[in-house]
Amino acid sequence: MDTMETKLLPASPQAIEEAAKLLRAGETVGIPTETVYGLAADATNSEAVTKIFEAKGRPQDNPLIVHISRMEELDRVVREIPQAALRLAEAFWPGPLTIIMKKSDAIPNTTSAGLDTVAVRMPSHPVAREIIRASGLPLAAPSANLSGLPSPTTAQHTFRDLNGRVPLIIDGGACAVGVESTVITVAGEKPTLLRPGYITKEQLEGALGCEVALSSAILNKLADGEVAASPGMKYKHYSPKADVIILKGSFDQYRAYLETHGGEGVFAMCYEGEEKKLPVPCIPCGRADDPASQAHALFSALREADDRNAKVVYAHCPAQNGLSMAVYNRLIRAAAFQVVEL
Ligand code: TXA
Ligand code: MG
Repeated sequence: MDTMETKLLPASPQAIEEAAKLLRAGETVGIPTETVYGLAADATNSEAVTKIFEAKGRPQDNPLIVHISRMEELDRVVREIPQAALRLAEAFWPGPLTIIMKKSDAIPNTTSAGLDTVAVRMPSHPVAREIIRASGLPLAAPSANLSGLPSPTTAQHTFRDLNGRVPLIIDGGACAVGVESTVITVAGEKPTLLRPGYITKEQLEGALGCEVALSSAILNKLADGEVAASPGMKYKHYSPKADVIILKGSFDQYRAYLETHGGEGVFAMCYEGEEKKLPVPCIPCGRADDPASQAHALFSALREADDRNAKVVYAHCPAQNGLSMAVYNRLIRAAAFQVVEL
């Protein structure tokens, strides 16, 4: 694709106005959200949305999330609002939850990748909200990484991936959550979790007063030929250049394994305070008893592995419940499902 000059501007009122102007003109803009940085364009404009796919190198069959700033904007993008969606919106919007509903005609097939549903999210990041409001548009925005790489959690990560591919990136600081939004569908018979995130399955069940089904692709590898409920789940994802390998066992077993597997280009992700106890160079990734801190640090840690020219990166195996489910889901994909039981 042609390269262009990419501006990186701090989130001033002028910069937000410039972003809104570009978006109204059918261009793409990198924007901060509370989860990860997004690459935004007018969700109702097929040509604008095509530019997102081109800039990221994203497969055309992977649908985009549509971002709104007020409940009134929801009517425009969905055909109907199920009761369950209202409950979830009431409990978790604005915030890191994406709800899938039947789409309206305002959403072109390019945005929904040909599905009859659309994923909608109302972010809580003040800059994201201000940009949506100023543009007057529902904004399609996938994570602002090049397809396949870890999602960007800073404007600098975004710039590194998209420099020369988009006209503008707005810097709103580091993302608080650090992993992408929780994705739930209420378009089918039973509410089903398609991607775990900061809002947990347990919290969703609390707000809905019923059980939430778990898409099988969340914790396991799809079988050959199996169709993903969420197309994004079938792609190799979040991968640094290094080979990521998850080790499942106690801290003592982790250390003992690393004693015999160190060498040039070998690194270990570790929890705060473990650096001095491990026999290989470490990449810190949050605190052992605090999955929110792990989620916050995960994608930066994966990018740091590349910066340090890691060939192999070992990582602790996270738990699979609560917020740890989100960390596990991302890490297992970065590791292409390689887990060693210690
Ligand atoms: O936190 C987030 O959600 C970030 C920020 C920028 O808002 N966005 C994000 O978008 O993570 P993306 O495109 O990287 O991930 C969207 C996921 C993909 O796995 C996609 O397949 C799924 O949501 N998805 C989107 N629309 C869908 C639909 N109609 N049905 C099923 N899955 C859908
Ligand atoms: Mg993504």
